Amino acid sequence: MDVQPFGYLPTLWRLARDPIGCFRWVDRRYGRTALFRRPGRRGKLLLVTSDPDWIREVVTDDGYRNSTLALAGPSGSAQRRIRRSLFRLHGEEHRRERRLMLPALQKRTADAHRDTMAGIVDETLASWRVGERRDLEREMKDLTRRIAAATLFGESDLAASEAAGRSIEHWIQLNYRNRTRILQLDIPGTPYAEMLALAQELEASLLEMIRRRRSESARGPDLLSAIVRAVDAEGGISERNLVGQSVVMFLAAHETTAYALVWTLFLLSQHPELAVRLSHELRNTLGGAPPKDNEVALLGHVIQESLRLFPVVPYTVRVAMRPARLPGLDVPRHTRILIPFDVAHRRAESFPRPQVFAPERWQSLEPPPYTYMPFGAGLHMCVGASFATRTLEIVLSMLLQRFQPVPAAGARIDRRVTVTIAPRRGLPMTLLEAGRPFERAPVRGDVHDMVDLSGGGE
Ligand code: HEM
Repeated sequence: MDVQPFGYLPTLWRLARDPIGCFRWVDRRYGRTALFRRPGRRGKLLLVTSDPDWIREVVTDDGYRNSTLALAGPSGSAQRRIRRSLFRLHGEEHRRERRLMLPALQKRTADAHRDTMAGIVDETLASWRVGERRDLEREMKDLTRRIAAATLFGESDLAASEAAGRSIEHWIQLNYRNRTRILQLDIPGTPYAEMLALAQELEASLLEMIRRRRSESARGPDLLSAIVRAVDAEGGISERNLVGQSVVMFLAAHETTAYALVWTLFLLSQHPELAVRLSHELRNTLGGAPPKDNEVALLGHVIQESLRLFPVVPYTVRVAMRPARLPGLDVPRHTRILIPFDVAHRRAESFPRPQVFAPERWQSLEPPPYTYMPFGAGLHMCVGASFATRTLEIVLSMLLQRFQPVPAAGARIDRRVTVTIAPRRGLPMTLLEAGRPFERAPVRGDVHDMVDLSGGGE
């Protein structure tokens, strides 16, 4: 495999501006696997691949590590401890902690939280009115923050759970801010100092929650209690390490689920016939209630197709921690590997007419391994996939039995990609009554790169 001369800087520049645009450009220009070298005599390699065989090699080999963006913080600091999570672990330690956490996140646990989730959705929808305009991005983020807080940290102390959720969100925002990253000095008044102080507060309040769960009386059905029970039975994660795992679970669950909801609602608004059919099927089958299981197959297919066109985590990164070998390539240590799920999801050989939103394709489709990865793949595949899918089914089925959100005609919808794909300026939508025929409102913006909205799909 040859290094593409002069490709490194243009790729990096595009990556900083728009990762999705960057990966599509690399794919068009260089093909499904491309290799670049950072300028300089001993410049490190950068590999971009959406080839299923290469992806398998990388994501199933523990020699390639995940890299996360949370700042390291001074040694011995709470900041350093709370960024420790499944994402960052590897080898035996990763396997052990993942095994302890997985049972708490199975579909049956999500089912046990069905009433909690349904209660929160009901409460949210109770204030919605037909004809109103609402920013669906804000609404869905508020909703999934509440769901994540209640299911992860418990309902008995909902206010404290939600406060913890908000602090976690604020902490991660501080981690991402350019001003925090540029000036990493613990001087009062700087965002960096604020971030370190917040990490300390967060650690203390989560430790308190964990300790309360250790005392028998405070054990509830929440995920944190379930994990504490597993840890108490088998050992293997210290209290402090559980703090990091709780923080990351909240972060991994909250925004991803919100954006999956946002984009699914947007796609339905652009496919009126399908949206009306789905709403009728939901009402006829569920009669206003949340689903007990996946009773409406069409809803499942809509979710699968939405996550194909809008994989809310559109790419992942690995770094080779030791020299490795890929087909036709010696991979030196520190080589950075970018895996664009978004590009893999648009191969015509796996998904005919790839840009078209066609949920019915999932009636018979079984994509080959490593071609459809909305929840990642391999050693670090999402532990919350079943839980997330169940949450999406519950929220969407309740919402779509009552409302059909539609954007204003001519609205501009662009993407903003960080770890997730978000609408750049929110997603204001008007609420129509569910199940009534409506006209598609044409929209503008680079959302048209994500899906073909010319009408061929209906
Ligand atoms: C629609 C919602 C979700 C999407 C699209 C999603 C996507 C992903 C993806 C792509 C990865 C792999 C990242 C990589 O390989 O670098 C991942 C990992 C992870 N996800 Fe999710 N996720 C979702 C919901 C959740 C939920 C609800 C939870 C927890 C309750 C969760 C917890 C995690 C954790 C802890 C990992 C790291 C696993 C490991 O490193 O072993 N996610 N997720």
